Amino acid sequence: MVAAQPRQLQLFSEEVSAPVHSYEPRAQHGTFQDSLRAPIHRWFTYPAGFSFKAVENFLREQNIAPGMVVYDPFAGTGTTNIVASQWGIRSYGVEAHPFVYFVAATKLFWNYEFPQLYQEIDRLVMHVEHQITQNTQPYEDIIAIFPELVGKCYLPEKLAHLYFCREAILQLPKGPFKNLAKLALTNLLRSVADVATGWPYIAPKKAKKNGSSVSSVNVPARLREQLLLMAGDIQIVKAQAQTVGEAEMIFGDARHVKEISSLSVHHCFTSPPYLNNYDYSDRTRLEMYFWGEAGSWGDITRKVRTRLIMSATTQINRSDYNEKSLLSQELSSVAPAIASDLQGKVQALAACRLNKGGKKSYDIMVAGYFNDMFQVLQETYRVLKPKGSFQLILGDSAPYGVYIPTHLYLGEMGKKIGFAEYTIEDLRSRGGKWPGNPQRHKVALKECILTLYKA
Ligand SMILES: C[S@@+](CC[C@H](N)C(=O)[O-])C[C@H]1O[C@@H](n2cnc3c(N)ncnc32)[C@H](O)[C@@H]1O
Repeated sequence: MVAAQPRQLQLFSEEVSAPVHSYEPRAQHGTFQDSLRAPIHRWFTYPAGFSFKAVENFLREQNIAPGMVVYDPFAGTGTTNIVASQWGIRSYGVEAHPFVYFVAATKLFWNYEFPQLYQEIDRLVMHVEHQITQNTQPYEDIIAIFPELVGKCYLPEKLAHLYFCREAILQLPKGPFKNLAKLALTNLLRSVADVATGWPYIAPKKAKKNGSSVSSVNVPARLREQLLLMAGDIQIVKAQAQTVGEAEMIFGDARHVKEISSLSVHHCFTSPPYLNNYDYSDRTRLEMYFWGEAGSWGDITRKVRTRLIMSATTQINRSDYNEKSLLSQELSSVAPAIASDLQGKVQALAACRLNKGGKKSYDIMVAGYFNDMFQVLQETYRVLKPKGSFQLILGDSAPYGVYIPTHLYLGEMGKKIGFAEYTIEDLRSRGGKWPGNPQRHKVALKECILTLYKA
């Protein structure tokens, strides 16, 4: 590690000295760019994901080797766990979003009999091709099966072909191949769409950016191609790994991880949701609608949003909260100086919202986020062995221009919970995407790595 340079920070009444250091090649570690081309990681584009190189770096830096256990409390699509498995290291991952959990669990199953897998791929695709040639159902009837949004994304014939793939996959017996095929078809949903379906918004009225027509895509052939690529990826990764580390993905909540015993994990690595109104449930709206797992915004709220820690403000119903005591009792009593500083920010946000058109509940969001993250820090501290570290890739934020130094709050909270010390390393500056937007604040933001150390 680069030598840490102590720097005094004017945040809390007590003196804080967080060592801060920085070096260049890691600038993209908080983004999914590298993972878009890497075997297995590339099976699902998750804009909230981080680079597999960040995980490799962490494993190297902390001297993590087979025989040790790693844990990612916000596992997302399983980046940490995939790398750990490749390195022969056992790992746990917790993810609360049901569809994202499905993606991670599917990416982490590599135990196929390959000749049989190739036969299953052939059988599935031939069955779909047969169904398509035999079809007598009018396209309108098929389109009517889906929520309106899905119908707007594809030409009728293409949606019908996707539907035949879906039905064939849903009829497969429960098991790893069914999951693999479901993820393969999921991967096609955005690449074969006839309108712009990129992140963050699906834009049914907008043509695809590159202007190329994808209307003539042969859907079953693309499904076969994708499945063959996935089978090939597993073989590449298994051939490169000396031994494959076991990964246990848990569909659960990082605030209460009853599935992992105390003092059982050597090191933790994660990237939590950032405090920036990024809606994870919306990323999988097209996918969940297509698979019939949700049919409306309300469904997604019930099945996904309510499970996640608080970082998406627009879904807040103010009458559910007591505006006078937004910060939890526990946070206030364990870390009073931090709670008092945060309270100032929450009050500033409550005052700001009254003068803003959108009247966004950032005050509730910020308080809720730190209440939640306080619990996550406590849980992670509980499962960590002595001398373990907890590294988080993080972004700060500035709702309504009120600066929230997330890394410092979490670092200081960590110390109150029992961590001996923490360091902060800057990765890159962020937030310059909307230079011409007058609504947008001008506060400089960054992405950084916070590392907490247990004694
Ligand atoms: C920044 S993303 C992590 C992405 C991951 N590093 C990857 O490469 O795919 C944060 C994740 O935390 C998940 N999450 C939110 N609240 C959670 C909770 N209470 N418990 C576990 N996971 C949660 C979100 O669904 C999201 O997938």
